[in-house]
Amino acid sequence: MKRLLYIFMMLTALSCTVAESEVSVIPQPQSLKVSSGSLDVSGASFWIDEGVPAQAVSAIGLFMDEVPDSGMSQSRAKSLFRFVSNPDLAEDAYEISVNRRRVRISASSFNGFLYAIQTLRQVLNEDMTVRCMKVKDAPRFGYRGMHLDSARHFWSVDQVKKYLDIMALHKMNRFHWHLTDDQGWRVEIKKYPLLTEVGSKRKGTVLGKGWYVIEYDNIPYEGFYTQEQIREIVSYAASKGIEIIPEIDLPGHMLAALASYPSLGCTGRGYEVWGRWGVSADVLCVGKEETFEFIENVLLEIMDLFPGKYIHIGGDECPKARWKECPACKARMKELGLEGEDAAVQLQAYVTDRVETFLAAHGRSIIGWDEILAGDISKSATIMSWRGTDGGIAASRAGHDVIMTPNSYCYLDYYQSRRIQDEPFAIGGFVDVRKVYSFEPFTSEMTPEQKSHILGVQANLWTEYIKTPEHLEYMLLPRMSALSEVQWCSPENRDYDRFLDKMTRMVDLYRKMGFNFARHIFEVSPVIGVDESLGCPQVTLTTQGDAPMYYTLDGSEPSVCSIPYTGPVSVGDSDVFKAIVDRDDIETKVYCQHFTRHKAVGKPITMNTKPAPYYSAGLPQSLVNGVLNEDEDAAAGEWMAWRGEPVDVVIDMGGESYSKVSVRTFVSKWEDMYAPLGLSAYVSDDNESFVEIASEEYEIEQERVPDGVKTYDLDFPDTSARYLKVVVRTVPALPSWSERLGKPAYLFLDEIKVE
Ligand code: ACM
Ligand code: ZN
Repeated sequence: MKRLLYIFMMLTALSCTVAESEVSVIPQPQSLKVSSGSLDVSGASFWIDEGVPAQAVSAIGLFMDEVPDSGMSQSRAKSLFRFVSNPDLAEDAYEISVNRRRVRISASSFNGFLYAIQTLRQVLNEDMTVRCMKVKDAPRFGYRGMHLDSARHFWSVDQVKKYLDIMALHKMNRFHWHLTDDQGWRVEIKKYPLLTEVGSKRKGTVLGKGWYVIEYDNIPYEGFYTQEQIREIVSYAASKGIEIIPEIDLPGHMLAALASYPSLGCTGRGYEVWGRWGVSADVLCVGKEETFEFIENVLLEIMDLFPGKYIHIGGDECPKARWKECPACKARMKELGLEGEDAAVQLQAYVTDRVETFLAAHGRSIIGWDEILAGDISKSATIMSWRGTDGGIAASRAGHDVIMTPNSYCYLDYYQSRRIQDEPFAIGGFVDVRKVYSFEPFTSEMTPEQKSHILGVQANLWTEYIKTPEHLEYMLLPRMSALSEVQWCSPENRDYDRFLDKMTRMVDLYRKMGFNFARHIFEVSPVIGVDESLGCPQVTLTTQGDAPMYYTLDGSEPSVCSIPYTGPVSVGDSDVFKAIVDRDDIETKVYCQHFTRHKAVGKPITMNTKPAPYYSAGLPQSLVNGVLNEDEDAAAGEWMAWRGEPVDVVIDMGGESYSKVSVRTFVSKWEDMYAPLGLSAYVSDDNESFVEIASEEYEIEQERVPDGVKTYDLDFPDTSARYLKVVVRTVPALPSWSERLGKPAYLFLDEIKVE
């Protein structure tokens, strides 16, 4: 009997895990318990209790339209879907209970019911059945945001609404809308009609990337939202439980306003709406009272349009050069008693505080980018930490509320694949789905008090290089799905493999709702190491779910008849590896990797200095795995970067003879990526005492020398010393013509060739 009971218990436990994995909800609910049986809901009758908020009643009505032949019930007892108000549940929390006869949904707020409906949408099967289950759910963070830049490229009312639909699917509740910038003013302000007549138009848009040398498309570009359209979007967002936080970026990023009203600038003339990207030196003149009058009048209309608590006042990337020369700004600094190096920084803090006081008098609170922490500002400002998390951590220590949006995890304009030759052109960087998913806004050093200041997490979508809705959605999905679990779930309730499994169901919803999405997680995901015993590159593949993968080593196109992938593949002498995933429902690309051969490929390598954490994509072996990057972008392939110290590596050549070392580097001076200042090779037989066998020094590359991939060689008499040390000297301080004079430069490397 005991034995039988044991078997029964095992079976129940098993059926439970199987059943739970059949029910797929993103973001993962706090508690989801699936039991046996299911309920057919086609033709269901709906009952809504009196206590349910009126806004929720309309949302329930929309959901009812998705259930075929459904309708309102005259009797609570006979209804199948029962929506019940439960004031004991927290704001945003909800519960769903499904048994073989009915579905009971309870919440205390409009948003709680909305989130319950989103969960129902995800658990409703194609055949209109729902598994029996109990869901108890509530979010980890109250602020779950997404940002959209409508200034660099303009998004129509319908496109913005679709963006809000994608947010709603993921139970997000704050839309940060970047409405003004150097490249366009996009919101109608009745008191200042030129802001849109002049400021919403640019003569053309820059082609490609660059700072010192640029080219334009010369195609006029324009667009703005009328106040009526803004109100329509605000109301649409509210119906989805989303509050809009408008951003009027000041006192920098204001060129479109200066082009419209030149007297707002320090020099007062010569302004044009920018067609290029970057940070403009021309900013608002904050010495003049006229400027504050302008800011306040604009914000009065903004507050009238956007009823939410927060107004974002930007504050990022505000160069101080003009203020330091401007008589009005200098007089203002003097009047405020601001002196020395820090004076202009404190002048920005004066602006921040003045605007904060004005908005507070109207019952609103400010959010600003983490740059505003540089000055002494009021604790009531909420800080948006974008340059990593350090600003957010410091702000929470100082008592500010914080929204974490670090570029290294949350910038969805960055590349999401290292194979950028297959990607639409992007600003750079690298943030894949896994990276987004791995973000944890709390650190182990934070006190409970600090943690209480972290309001939540947001991802940003800057649109310099994004022009079409398809591209926009491609950048959002599935990274937004990953973000939603960071925002909603506690760390214990996050599991990347489970998340990937759930994506099978999620892409059905994307398709149903007409959203474009990126397919990388469904393709092969490669890591290229080396097989030291065979002295050759070795490829390890993974992919979402259990789809089979196949590969070839002879250059032929892989198919289901090729070699099935079962584990790491040593490529031997082959110079190309190709692989596919076999999926019925999702089209994926063929993966193709070429290899170059030289004497260090597959040799053991040790790094005496480490690459910068953000640019250490590959393994140490990446420098000797025969992979040369095909793209000229720091985000691509396996570039590694050293900064502030030389590259210093030792390769165990194992007794082979050699007479040449080449290092392959990528130079992009406007991004602080410089060519080396020197290259030296040393040899040793004991890995302790090394002797120099060749060395070269190079001049620092000048501004106008073309950037790109460059190779530096050292030739020396044939040697078969076992250990080869290669040292590449980096630029310790950026030259005078650089924006960031004095900071150390990066040195990028992808391979150290030995011949
Ligand atoms: C920013 O990305 N400049 C906030
Ligand atoms: Zn000025």
